[in-house]
Amino acid sequence: MEPPFIGKVALVTGAAAGIGRASALAFAREGAKVVVADVNVEGGEETVALCRAQNTDAIFVRCDVSQNSEVEQLIAKAVDMFGRIDFAHNNAGIEGVQAMLVDYPEEVWDRVIDINLKGVWLCMKHEIRQMLQQGGGAIVNTSSVAGLSGSRGVSAYVASKHGIVGVTKAAALEYARSGIRINAICPGTIHTAMIDRFTQGDPQLLAQFAEGEPIGRLGSPEEVANAVIWLCSDKASFVTGATLAVDGGRLA
Ligand code: NAI
Repeated sequence: MEPPFIGKVALVTGAAAGIGRASALAFAREGAKVVVADVNVEGGEETVALCRAQNTDAIFVRCDVSQNSEVEQLIAKAVDMFGRIDFAHNNAGIEGVQAMLVDYPEEVWDRVIDINLKGVWLCMKHEIRQMLQQGGGAIVNTSSVAGLSGSRGVSAYVASKHGIVGVTKAAALEYARSGIRINAICPGTIHTAMIDRFTQGDPQLLAQFAEGEPIGRLGSPEEVANAVIWLCSDKASFVTGATLAVDGGRLA
């Protein structure tokens, strides 16, 4: 049987590592051509090579998602290369620092909001313009369980991820009749470099994190990617404006 996304084009931001790389590879496995976007050139090129190893075409575009002109160029390059954008996974994000709200450094607050929240808005703005011309598409934004509940010491991250849920719902309503479905995923603790930075490579802390999860382990990037693929597929044709927790039961 032919892979379901043959002839389709997927764009993934933050695709040089972690969840974004797993998502890019999952789109490639489903037969889509993949546009890999990231600020990390080396990691991005590696993701492209891994996608191509799955017999599909892929390109890397260096893009800082917090910069309007770079996002505009990213979409232009994607369309120039592959003619369209059927699926977009707006996933690039940073964790910021751990500090109580009154001590949170303003420049880090601004950076977290710029990359995590403004970046999603900018990406959607240019993706949706393209999707309107094509007559449809599907977008998935990476929020977090921190987009649905609070967490101490990471107020900027929590605010940015709640913002992503809000802008996803607003965009879904605005474009529901234009054939564009827009959803958010809310991962729990997923074992990526982000978590290793958070636990500073301490295996005991990592084990504690895993033990604290209802399911008794951390999630894998591939488990999040599976949810992204489902949301983009026709099987989710009546799903828009939703927030899907992929969290091993954390928010249950
Ligand atoms: P990661 O740190 O492994 O990957 C993030 C990627 O985003 C990196 O390749 C990085 O270079 C890229 N990036 C950072 N700033 C960028 C910018 N300005 N423009 C373009 N690319 C940029 O992290 P991970 O875990 O794969 O995270 C991916 C997304 O999932 C993030 O939005 C994160 O907040 C979210 N998330 C992660 C969870 C986890 O437990 N790992 C849980 C919930 C959400």
